[in-house]
Amino acid sequence: MNDLFDAPSPESRVRELREQLARHNRLYYEEATPEISDADYDRLFRELETLEAAHPHLATLDSPTRRVGGAPLESFQSIQHLVPMLSIDDVFELKDAEVPEAELIEFYRRIQKNLGREQVTVTIEPKIDGVAVSLVYREGRLAYAATRGDGTTGDDVTNNVRTIRSIPLSLPQPYPSLLEVRGEIFMPNEAFAAMNAERDEAGLPTFANPRNATAGTIKQLDPKVVAKRPLAFLAHGLGAYDGPELPTEHDFHQLLQRLGIPRNQPIIEAGSLDTLLTAVGRLNHDRHALDHATDGAVVKVLARQERDQLGFTSRAPRWAAAYKFLPEQRETLLKDITIQVGRTGVLTPVAELEPVHLSGTTVSRATLHNEEEIQRKDIRIGDTVVVEKAGEIIPAVVKVVTEKRPTHARPFSLVEHVGGRCPSCGGPISKEEGFVAWRCGNFECPAQAVSKIKQFASRKALDITGMGETVAEALVRHGLCHTPLDLFTLDRDSLASLNLGDESDPRRFGEKNATKVIESLDRARTQTLDRWLFAMGIRQVGESAAKELARLHANLEEVADSTVLRAVLEVADLEARRKRVSPRSKESPPANEVEKAQRQDEHDRLKARADALSLDLAAFKLSPDAGTVVAESVRSFFQSPAGQHVLIRLRELGIDPRSANYRPTPPTGPQSDQPLAGKTFVITGTLSISRDDMKQLLETHGAKVSGSISGNTDYLLCGEGGGSKRDKAEKLGVPILEESQLQDLLN
Ligand code: IVH
Repeated sequence: MNDLFDAPSPESRVRELREQLARHNRLYYEEATPEISDADYDRLFRELETLEAAHPHLATLDSPTRRVGGAPLESFQSIQHLVPMLSIDDVFELKDAEVPEAELIEFYRRIQKNLGREQVTVTIEPKIDGVAVSLVYREGRLAYAATRGDGTTGDDVTNNVRTIRSIPLSLPQPYPSLLEVRGEIFMPNEAFAAMNAERDEAGLPTFANPRNATAGTIKQLDPKVVAKRPLAFLAHGLGAYDGPELPTEHDFHQLLQRLGIPRNQPIIEAGSLDTLLTAVGRLNHDRHALDHATDGAVVKVLARQERDQLGFTSRAPRWAAAYKFLPEQRETLLKDITIQVGRTGVLTPVAELEPVHLSGTTVSRATLHNEEEIQRKDIRIGDTVVVEKAGEIIPAVVKVVTEKRPTHARPFSLVEHVGGRCPSCGGPISKEEGFVAWRCGNFECPAQAVSKIKQFASRKALDITGMGETVAEALVRHGLCHTPLDLFTLDRDSLASLNLGDESDPRRFGEKNATKVIESLDRARTQTLDRWLFAMGIRQVGESAAKELARLHANLEEVADSTVLRAVLEVADLEARRKRVSPRSKESPPANEVEKAQRQDEHDRLKARADALSLDLAAFKLSPDAGTVVAESVRSFFQSPAGQHVLIRLRELGIDPRSANYRPTPPTGPQSDQPLAGKTFVITGTLSISRDDMKQLLETHGAKVSGSISGNTDYLLCGEGGGSKRDKAEKLGVPILEESQLQDLLN
């Protein structure tokens, strides 16, 4: 047989794979009728990746393998919109008004009058509660994506938008030579809830609603972060355009459909005021079945020619209006307030409600956030309360119907409610100064143990293989671990027979997995100090703070009893006192001349001490990662029973984490013995080892690694395919190093 028939050329296979992947993407995201399994999709995707790696000249920017690319940006570039991105006039649903749609009726009458015609056809569609973006396709390729900004110029968020898999990077033929699609980026409700639950598990702050989460995500400078968030897009408008005529909104939607660009739906048509009002009412009801937040209906004149006739005001088109729905509210009974212990020990009050149907779901619980919030709204058990959904999805208690308050209802006190003890472990609870949340102070509280073990074992901490959520949970449930350090007391046999299921459906962890865990625990014993510090889950001590602490201290004992951190805190304290006694203080000015002179003295004394200490500290060249907040948190951790316990247990276990980057007073200038001391590197492209590993390698030789190129960059270390960074380095005259040249430098 002829080989040519068996194996297509790489070029044609790459093309075929891209077309297939684009088609399956469309089927999955848009039509919700996938034809292949996720595993099969991944297989096609990997085949494409392999081909592109083997034939770099075939790797193009619009390949689906390049959705997540590019290093974090320092800031967004501005982009001028081809056509101004206008907003629309909001018309409101008026609560308790005789005719709640009065403003909408006025809008329709106005267009009838301006067009001089009774019969005007309009479309009614959901108003998506998201973030507006413009996607510009030139010659069938996504050229860029921009936010609205001030309507004239927006931010270039192309790299972030490219990570949204439902947005095609290239269009099928025939396509218009220029197409600017406007629409909204948002997070589908279900995916948002799952993401929040995951963040909660991991002890990360959760987002208030999908819109906040979307706005925060689109502003992220690192596309890798964006790629992990479940963003979606729906088109609702046309900007700049060069292609065959599109006489009506339907023609525009047909074009979107054919090009595989996700579009807003449903689009209801109405030819009279009555049908318009009915349609808006129907949409207000049906919108709860959509999997994304909507806060109104957008009404648009159907025909482009009529739109042109109506024109624009300075801010908005005269042919469109946004009718905002009031959030649906219901009254219900607050039966009880329960307290949840979060994974970081925070006690969160939760409203237990008489179930009530609200915006498409039955609501029986709502977070009350914290005690202050309850007191501010004066919410009491037994009250009738008004609930609505924040951002259309998270139930919230808006206010109390005080007229319906039973006489026995008492103001709520969280401490009284839980009898001063953590409802999970019975340990003492406390509230830190300046914080609104009560916390459980018991470091062995089971509600916290699982997340602490997970953090301890995570990849950037002690990297203990096989220690996922299920295993950690089983260990805590069976009483084998109360704190992360208990992991070191596990033996292979008890770990192997650990039941991950329950009694009715037992699932053994198994010998092989147990061996892996024990081996990585052995390795963890000699992990570096920075990883150990990160692993302990000390508040405010993230990866970079841990690194900085490890630079300043040789071992853990030194961190726990740090003179540097003490000095940082003392400077902060002296500064605060100095401000208080200052004779120029606005809050408490001196009463007389004598006091003024005394205070001046005291002020000067405090200032002299603070200046002297700051001068000492200057030698350490502290980064902001070791500021007052971190110092305070580290100090209070090692003074707490939990921190003391850690130090004692580590000694007992014979574990003594050492710093791998200990350089408390970095030498400046040529006296340094490290080959890359004082040099700033930026890494780009694909290297022989991962970026993280390369970063570590450079840092152990004294270099600093930065995310973006500037005039201060000494070298760009460039692997395969380092596009835009390479260009920028060339422009700025920054030397570009290949990986092989790095070795010479190190020698
Ligand atoms: S049409 C000339 N349709 O809401 C502007 N906008 O306050 C035409 N929005 O700027 C916009 N869903 O960002 C349109 N179905 C929809 C929409 C929608 C959400 C946003 C859009 C607009 C803002 C109006």
